[in-house]
This record gives sequence, C-alpha cells and structure tokens, in this order.
Amino acid sequence: MNTEVIEKLKWRYATKKFDASRKLSEEKLAILTEAFNLTATSYGLQPLRMLVIADDHLKEQLVPLSMNQLQVKEASHVLVLCIEGALDSTFIKRYFSKVEQHRGTPRHILTPFEEFLVKDFKSKSMEEIEQWMAKQAYLALGNLLTVCALEGIDACPMEGFDPEGYDTLLGLKEKNLKSVLVLPVGYRSEQDGFAQMKKVRRGVDEVIITY
Ligand SMILES: Cc1cc2nc3c(=O)[nH]c(=O)nc-3n(C[C@H](O)[C@H](O)[C@H](O)COP(=O)(O)O)c2cc1C
Repeated sequence: MNTEVIEKLKWRYATKKFDASRKLSEEKLAILTEAFNLTATSYGLQPLRMLVIADDHLKEQLVPLSMNQLQVKEASHVLVLCIEGALDSTFIKRYFSKVEQHRGTPRHILTPFEEFLVKDFKSKSMEEIEQWMAKQAYLALGNLLTVCALEGIDACPMEGFDPEGYDTLLGLKEKNLKSVLVLPVGYRSEQDGFAQMKKVRRGVDEVIITY
C-alpha cells in the first residue's frame, strides 16, 4: 500500500539524533500547538497542558533528567505533555460554561450531564483520575506524532524521563501540573543511523483480527 499518508507514516521514526542547527518555524509550531488543542479527549474535558521549550539552557538541563537522551538538548523544541494537578468540580463546571458560551446551549440542558460528571469524578480516587488523565495525554501524543509525520517534522516520543525532576525544574507544582510525556521535535540529523533502519512491526496479518 502506497498512499500518501502511509508513506508519511513510514517516513517518521523515533528520532535519536536531531540536527541542532535546524529550528522549527513559528508556522510549524503553531500547527503542533493547534493539533494538541484539537486532540479528542474523553468527555471533551481536556485535562491537559503542553509546555513548549525552546530555551537552550533549559533543554540542556533536561538531559540528565531524561536518562541522558540527547534528543531533549538537540531538538529544536521540547514539548512536555502535562496533566492537571486536580480535576475537581470547578474544572468540570468551567468546561460546561464553555459549551454554553460557544454553542449557546441553555445550561439546564447541560446540567444533568454536568452533575453526572461531577459525581462520577468525586467517586474516583486521585490515582484513578491521574491514570485517566494520563490516557488523554497519550492520545495527544499519538495525534502529535501523526501530525508531525504529515508536516515533515521529526519527533521522538519519550517516556524515559524523570517526571518529578521535570516538575521541579520547570516549576510545575506551582502551576498545578504534572509532566507525563516528552516529545522533542525538530529535524533529523544526517548522522542518525536509525533513520535508515527498517520498521519492525508485527504485521497487519498478525495484529488485525477480522470477524
Ligand atoms: C509512549 C512511548 C514512549 C517512548 N519512549 C522512548 C524513549 O524514552 N526514548 C526513545 O528513544 N524512544 C522512545 N520511544 C520510541 C519507541 O521505541 C519507538 O516508537 C518504537 O520502537 C517504534 O519505532 P518507530 O517509532 O521508529 O517506528 C517511545 C515510544 C512511545 C510510543
């Protein structure tokens, strides 16, 4: 199969070495931030924020907090996907106020669902809510990876970092956020041997089950 989308998905790979001299344009960055905001999330609640780090000194400080993976230093920008520190009734009500504003839906139509969500989240432990929020962050990561591929932007999805170290360095506690995923973005170095390696996948025949 050689559709344009599949070709682009084959082009992308988890970039190990970025060309530090090449920077993403403001236009490309804007596409990524817009794509992050457009990511679908459960109930539409968007319990996420994304840091966009361009500062070289800060990127360098991320290296020891990222299992010494140099991508965070050499990439044009480092995106850090964060979950909210709390998902309480104020947060949920703010979302429904937005629905009311943007769509002009009368509040009384929204109230039953709003109350259901407030009650549902109150019944969950903080750990359960954090896990749920982290799942939304992974959706955003997937979305960003695809958009990067379509836009010819290189990226390396990363779980290999110290979230607490990031939170401290980046002052995330004060912002009531927790880092969950890291995505250095930019352009591959010509010296990155991984770019030429064949993709290793289980194969459509094995992973798809047709009924
Ligand atoms: C959630 C997630 C976390 C990952 N963490 C790292 C990481 O910390 N460092 C790294 O070099 N690659 C990381 N990878 C890249 C994977 O190893 C890579 O996507 C996989 O081997 C498939 O290869 P490809 O993306 O080049 O096609 C991660 C990928 C995902 C989806």
